[in-house]
This record gives sequence, structure tokens and C-alpha cells, in this order.
Amino acid sequence: MPIASNKPRIVQVLDIKEESETVRSLIFRDDLCSKAKPGQFVMVWIPGVDEIPMSISMMGDQSLAGFTVRKVGEASKALFDMKVKNILGIRGPYGMPFTPIFGDVMIVGAGTGLAPLLPLAEILTQKFASINIIIGGKTLSEFVLVDRARKTLLKNNSEIIITSEDGSYGIKGLATDVMESILKKKYIDIIYTCGPELMIKKVFEIAQKFSVPIQASLERIMKCGIGICGSCCIGRYRVCKDGPIFDSKKLEEIIDELGLFRRDHSGMVTMIE
Ligand SMILES: Cc1cc2nc3c(=O)[nH]c(=O)nc-3n(C[C@H](O)[C@H](O)[C@H](O)COP(=O)(O)OP(=O)(O)OC[C@H]3O[C@@H](n4cnc5c(N)ncnc54)[C@H](O)[C@@H]3O)c2cc1C
Ligand code: FES
Repeated sequence: MPIASNKPRIVQVLDIKEESETVRSLIFRDDLCSKAKPGQFVMVWIPGVDEIPMSISMMGDQSLAGFTVRKVGEASKALFDMKVKNILGIRGPYGMPFTPIFGDVMIVGAGTGLAPLLPLAEILTQKFASINIIIGGKTLSEFVLVDRARKTLLKNNSEIIITSEDGSYGIKGLATDVMESILKKKYIDIIYTCGPELMIKKVFEIAQKFSVPIQASLERIMKCGIGICGSCCIGRYRVCKDGPIFDSKKLEEIIDELGLFRRDHSGMVTMIE
């Protein structure tokens, strides 16, 4: 009998990939996650600690799947510190995925924001897609998954541009500045983005200016992951069920909250710093 994605499963960490001093990818075996669509996420239970959402960053053969975690607080640090053979619980995959559009594509990502974007890029490159990917960050040590982006994209008619705010890697400046200069010269069918919410907001505003549709992956505190608790609300949407991928129309509806407010762990609406 097929397993329902809602059913919690116990998996073992099979492999760990060091992405940077603060980011690691954990590989495990799970049939459902290996068939997830780019942009979907999994709720990861770290025994004795917490349960947190993670984008599925790798869907592989032989039921392999993986996510890429940056240590920021207690639960993500506990995940980051996991060793091969440790166990964790997973449920999912959940959420609305990206819709692949095969054409002239722009991808704008930063940090672990590349985690859901790279499986999408991998699918796009299998058919036809000309991809301009702009990877932004503050400084060199923050960049992760760039080698994987290169391996994926340099196979076809694609361009990778790196921007860092302090000039320590690639072009000095913001990803959104480069994005705007490309859009002035080139027709783009669709923009996909994931990263800090203020960057997403800016990417959305520029996309609107050039009338290019966009799909953005948003992050909110999540407790249930399945639309019950309300902790992930943004406007009239629940990021876990209606997202995490938001298209231009939905982003337009939540523009008063995007990059400005979110709920904290207690459910209180707070300013995004
Ligand atoms: C759909 C989805 C996919 C995600 N994918 C990834 C991923 O691929 N890799 C990754 O490293 N992280 C990802 N995250 C974020 C990750 O879930 C949080 O960083 C994690 O829950 C933090 O837990 P913590 O106990 O370590 O930190 P906490 O102590 O709980 O929080 C540390 C800081 O992060 C903020 N924070 C906590 N959880 C979230 C959240 N869900 N959204 C936004 N801010 C939050 C807190 O307000 C606080 O400022 C994703 C979140 C969502 C909603
Ligand atoms: S996480 Fe509970 S409603 Fe979205």
C-alpha cells in the first residue's frame, strides 16, 4: 500500500556534504521525497529538539533525497551537527511546487535559497531553457551550492553571475542591480527567486516594472506544515498550503506584509529586521 505523505517516517542520515562552515546537505533514503517536485518542503523532526521545515534540495535515483541546512538556531544547529547513521523523522513532501516554464528564464537566489532553485534548474535544463542565474550574497563565506549550479547550468545556454555586497566574490553589488540591467537588454519569460525576504520583495518589484511573471519561495515559522495551526499566515494565505511558492498575483496581494512583517514562534506579528 502506498505511504501517505502525511505519515511520519524515520530515516537515517546516509551521507553529509559540507557546503560551507555553516551549511551542510544531509542525504537520506525516502521514496516520497525522492519524487518531490522542486519547491516542495519536508517537515524534519530532530528527536528531542524540534520539528522544522526544510526545502528538498536533492531528489535522486534509488529513493535518495536531501536537504541543505544552515545553522541559525537550536533545531537547525542540531541538524547541522548530525552524523552519518543518526536518525531523524520526516513528513511530507508538502506545499505547492514551482511550475517549470521552459523558455528564457531568470533565477535569482541567495544563500540556502538556492536549495529549492537548483532542482528546478536541473529540470529546466533537461528540456530547453536558457537560464540566467544570479547568485547574490553579502560576502564570499556566505555562498553555497555554487559549484552545483555551475555543473547544472554550464551544460546548456546558461549564464551564471555572482554578486557580493563587499566585492569579495564576483561583481560588487546587489543581485537585484544585475537583474535590472539584464531585463533592460533581454526578454525574459519568467523569474524564479528564493532568499532573504527583502531581496524577494525587490525582485518582485523589478519583475513588476518589466511586466515579467515571477514565482517566489517564501519562508515563515511553521508548526504543523499542513494548514492547521496558522503560524505561517501571510495575508489570507498559509505559506505551508498555499505556498511556499507564490506567483505574481499572490505576491501582489501580500505586498503590505512581504519583507515587513511575520509571525514569531508565539504567533505574534513582528517586524522583519
Ligand atoms: C518552506 C520552508 C523551507 C525552508 N527551507 C530551508 C532550507 O532549505 N534550508 C535552511 O537552512 N532553512 C530553511 N528554512 C528555514 C528553517 O526552517 C529555519 O531556519 C529553521 O526553522 C530555524 O529553526 P531554529 O530552531 O534553528 O532557529 P530558531 O531559533 O527557531 O530561529 C532562528 C531565527 O530564524 C527565524 N526563523 C525560524 N524559523 C523560520 C522560518 N520558518 N522562516 C523564517 N524565519 C525563521 C527566527 O525568527 C529567528 O530569527 C525553510 C523554511 C520554510 C518555511
Ligand atoms: S504551518 Fe500550520 S498552518 Fe501553516
